[in-house]
Amino acid sequence: MTEIRTFEPEDTFSVIKLASQTLTEKYNPSLFAYFYETNPDGFIVANLNHKIIGFLIGVKINNQKTKILMISVSPQHQKQKIGTKLLEEFIKRTQKEEINTIELEVRIDNHKAIQFYEKYGFRKIIKIKEFYQDNKDAYTMQLRF
Ligand SMILES: CC(C)(COP(=O)(O)OP(=O)(O)OC[C@H]1O[C@@H](n2cnc3c(N)ncnc32)[C@H](O)[C@@H]1OP(=O)(O)O)[C@@H](O)C(=O)NCCC(=O)NCCS
Repeated sequence: MTEIRTFEPEDTFSVIKLASQTLTEKYNPSLFAYFYETNPDGFIVANLNHKIIGFLIGVKINNQKTKILMISVSPQHQKQKIGTKLLEEFIKRTQKEEINTIELEVRIDNHKAIQFYEKYGFRKIIKIKEFYQDNKDAYTMQLRF
């Protein structure tokens, strides 16, 4: 049974490894400790048999909006609703703060992530040219509830 819970410092190594396996951007490992220290509620992991198989990092932008910065599920566990569980937990935490909008950026060619977000009601609201370090474009997607 997959447990969805807040990140704990002992998860750091697994999260860094998962991020490097699944995300196109390369992140400085110290960033993960920073997010945990500044925003523990937004850092959610999926734990299966003492193994981290997914994580989500979101932040509060202001009193109206949160933003998902990263979401990742290990390749062996994708398409098993782990991403859904992480997203649902983040939506729940966002709603608890009485915030009704979640935004994120996604690469315009990341079709599976776009399909994932659209399934849960996110809509593309704008295209941002050369958003990423490699000059690729992004969509900003938004979910309002
Ligand atoms: C995007 C991601 C987090 C989805 O997580 P997941 O656990 O595999 O997704 P779920 O099993 O919860 O899927 C829920 C729905 O999303 C859509 N979806 C998920 N993966 C998909 C895929 N490979 N192709 C098409 N649609 C997909 C489907 O609608 C799916 O519903 P269904 O299984 O009933 O068809 C995961 O694919 C991932 O980690 N990708 C690599 C990292 C990444 O791109 N992160 C996003 C950066 S913005």
